Amino acid sequence: MTTAQHLNKQFGIAGQLSFRTDASGLVVAEIDNAQATASLCLQGAHLMSWQPRNQDQPVVWLSRAAKLASGKSIRGGAPVCWPWFGAHVSEAGFPGHGYARTVPWQVVESGTEPNGATRLTLRLVENAKTRAQWEHVCHVDLTVIVGDTLRMELSTENTGTVDFVIGEALHTYLRISDIGAVRVTGLNGCEYWDKVGGSHLRKQDGAITFTGETDRVYINTAAECVIEDDKFKRRIHIKKSGSLATVVWTPWSEKADKMGDMGQPDGWREMVCVESANAVDNVVTVASGTRHTLIVEYRTEQIQS
Ligand code: BG6
Repeated sequence: MTTAQHLNKQFGIAGQLSFRTDASGLVVAEIDNAQATASLCLQGAHLMSWQPRNQDQPVVWLSRAAKLASGKSIRGGAPVCWPWFGAHVSEAGFPGHGYARTVPWQVVESGTEPNGATRLTLRLVENAKTRAQWEHVCHVDLTVIVGDTLRMELSTENTGTVDFVIGEALHTYLRISDIGAVRVTGLNGCEYWDKVGGSHLRKQDGAITFTGETDRVYINTAAECVIEDDKFKRRIHIKKSGSLATVVWTPWSEKADKMGDMGQPDGWREMVCVESANAVDNVVTVASGTRHTLIVEYRTEQIQS
């Protein structure tokens, strides 16, 4: 029996959740219930898509040029950045945004919520390479609950005897009509590290609009963010807990060209990342014997015309 067949037997839910082996050899969970469709690659516990049934467009963006490949991160969806965000503080050879997004995770539980949404929990599987980059003993679980809202819970349980510090993010790419036409609200008055052209601490004034490459880590904020998209007549609400940093990122054209997997010429215009994170000033200490959980809920609201 293939891995996908085993998983279907143990965790599949008729009419809701099934597993398949992609052409790349990676296993993908497909969720298709009365409220929404979604897919998630077991490598990286990487949610690749989410579209509620009441939406004409996906809410989570996946690049047209996204490739599934062993050991490589997928462009789009919701990469799990863990146990550090961005570059490693001291080891230049360690992967950006940590290793969680490029290693296998295993399914540990699935089920149906009382409201009909589908739940799936995965646990990161350590190997010799991850142990060489992270010496601590812990369990890292991601639960996704797929319905007309999407809930993601990233939990880190310190099962060892020594406290440790993590950086993390649910690095979600959201599908928008056009990057030049949307606004992100919720961060007015917040301080942020502006990573374009150096690293400068600035203060947000009003809503965020986009006219060029934007790469910002907003700090000390638990605020709900809203992507206002008049052309798609919708707002995407992003509500979080256990997270005090929010990263807002768009590569713009030149950087997107160099990246090679953005679905050029215009893939970059159709997405914006609003990432619920603990990073820079807001990394988290997880004391021995305790658990830290970052939770994000995404929902849409129609704009009445
Ligand atoms: C963002 C970072 O979170 O992720 C950017 O702030 C980075 O600096 C972007 O370019 C994409 O990262 P990656 O490693 O997935 O190409």
